Amino acid sequence: MSIKIAIDGPAGAGKSSISKEVAKRLGLVYVDTGAMYRACGVYALENGIEITDEEITPHLDKINIDISYEEDGQHIFLNGVDVSKRIREPDATIASSKIAVIPSVRLKLVELQRKIANEKSVIMDGRDIGTYVLPDADFKIFLTASVAERAKRRYLEMKQKGMQCEISKVIEDIEFRDKNDSEREFAPLRQAEDAILVDTSELSYEESCDVLYSMVKEKLDTER
Ligand code: DC
Repeated sequence: MSIKIAIDGPAGAGKSSISKEVAKRLGLVYVDTGAMYRACGVYALENGIEITDEEITPHLDKINIDISYEEDGQHIFLNGVDVSKRIREPDATIASSKIAVIPSVRLKLVELQRKIANEKSVIMDGRDIGTYVLPDADFKIFLTASVAERAKRRYLEMKQKGMQCEISKVIEDIEFRDKNDSEREFAPLRQAEDAILVDTSELSYEESCDVLYSMVKEKLDTER
């Protein structure tokens, strides 16, 4: 039987990097569901489609998303093209948040996410994994940090990659995404009742990985 670990939380809380590392230590597959929303956003951008329910829904059958797991982690393909880098660009980030509000897009991607979780033992991160995608997950964590701390981390990361940015703009983007993610009607960002809250504001990346690893490992050991 496959193991399912759900990690949810707001943008910039460190979910992806921490989940990836913990999955590696535990020998589980890390599934980044945000990448799927980002790939759909890129489809809209590259085909000049306005991101509204009416405009996007008729195109859904033409959006094929495939995931492959390589040595260096998850790769995401949009209609056969590897868009793993493209989806990280700022316009794709904004587009993903807008497209994630559309129910038909969510239903399509949730189906893919559940299929992967049924076939493999996973650590899956997103916004609605514990509440909607995998309500029966073996373990659920809600990972968060203050807006100021999340913005600082994102700012440093962008600087390191040589990207131009201003801290005020990064804060604005994070607040925009928090609002969009938590106020949407369908499967909003919310802590599941049975999820454990972990606030990483005061923790380094390494400390956060150690905390999550120990929690998940303990849970898996007690179930064996
Ligand atoms: O985690 P991320 O920043 O790569 O996610 C991109 C966008 O997709 C983000 O604005 C929220 C949305 N998302 C979602 O609504 N549900 C998920 N399970 C994952 C991401």
